[in-house]
Amino acid sequence: MGLVEDIKKNIDLSQYKGIKKVVLAYSGGVDTSIMIKLFQDVCGFEVIAVTLDLGQKEYSNVDKKSIKEKAEKLGARHHFIDAKREFITDYAWKAVQSNCMYQGAYPNSTALARPLISKHLVEVAKREGAGAVAHGSTGKGNDQVRFDVSFMALDPNLKIIVPVRDWSLMRDEEIKYAQQKNILIPVKKDSPYSIDANLWGRSIECGILEDPATEPPDDAYEWVALPHKAQDKIETVKISFKKGVPTEIDCADGKFTDPVEMVERMNTVAGRNGVGLIDHMEDRVVGLKSRENYECPAALAFIFAHKDLEKYVLTREENDFKPLVDKAWGDLVYRGLWYSPLMKSLNAYLEASQEYVDGWVKLKLYKGSMRVVGRSSEHALYDKLLATYDKGTTFNQKDAIGFIKLWGLNTVMANKVRK
Ligand code: ARG
Repeated sequence: MGLVEDIKKNIDLSQYKGIKKVVLAYSGGVDTSIMIKLFQDVCGFEVIAVTLDLGQKEYSNVDKKSIKEKAEKLGARHHFIDAKREFITDYAWKAVQSNCMYQGAYPNSTALARPLISKHLVEVAKREGAGAVAHGSTGKGNDQVRFDVSFMALDPNLKIIVPVRDWSLMRDEEIKYAQQKNILIPVKKDSPYSIDANLWGRSIECGILEDPATEPPDDAYEWVALPHKAQDKIETVKISFKKGVPTEIDCADGKFTDPVEMVERMNTVAGRNGVGLIDHMEDRVVGLKSRENYECPAALAFIFAHKDLEKYVLTREENDFKPLVDKAWGDLVYRGLWYSPLMKSLNAYLEASQEYVDGWVKLKLYKGSMRVVGRSSEHALYDKLLATYDKGTTFNQKDAIGFIKLWGLNTVMANKVRK
């Protein structure tokens, strides 16, 4: 029996009654290509395939055309949506303001894109009068959670179909079906990894990487030079911020102010200096632990610089408190709750907290290392005349004597009483 008959036998098709069109998040890869055909063969749906350009290097101009052609050849209508700028200004820049780093290691590059992709799919579904939306996630990962929750929050009337999960698709059966149906298998040599990429980073999973003890092979990385192979030259990058958002980078390649260009350029500059590699054990939403590898040069550099600037301009109390909000924000992103009420509240705090985060930070990059070598801000709470040990300081050291007596009072008392 073929795959189509198998699926028909095992699922209840009546759940799709009344649905004529499905909007599919289409990457151009094997799985989502097979889905275009399956939706026609199994459900008789008209398929509208949607691909978002989020700056994936994989989608060069040539590839973009071939993705569209491929979808259309398989019988779908296809929309390419350029969402690069929106992704940076509405998602990545907020991630900078919140120093977003899930479990202290992962800048949520894949996670951040999911609510944006979902939003565009729902818009297309509305325009097209489609009754269902679909994506190529499995039932084991985080992405299904992020897509499904976003879809349900944005339009609870849409039916969500996740074929790999809902129809229990098996990879070998899929491939057999693809061969029968003449669905083109990627022309490029098959990567042994599962890749997801956008301007904020590149996620690398599967294959040999599933063994946490094994070092990732050199070929797993495409954006970041291995530190020992990186150029033997120190590079300086000056990053300017306005209200916690990057407004310019000034580096050896020139000055850049366009949001998309800034991120692209920072990926290149930090990447060629070996900065941006991440290898960590991650706790997924569904309870699994997984070994994850990422290349996120721009994300790491922007956040590193932004954190430094915050320390310079925020009060001690703000600097102590904000990391709690930052962590909560990053956890919501990771866990697919972009459209939750708490996210709205946290965004309000974030925005308020960034009012005075203006200025610049200078980074030096060299063979995998990154350090701050200077910063400047008109809102700095640092005052050289207060801090200096030289003559002419405005800080009265004698004030410290009374302060210390009261500061230490509890400790001194406790030591006396508890002898
Ligand atoms: N573990 C990361 C996350 O949950 C990366 C997921 C990568 N997704 C993929 N389809 N390869 O955000």
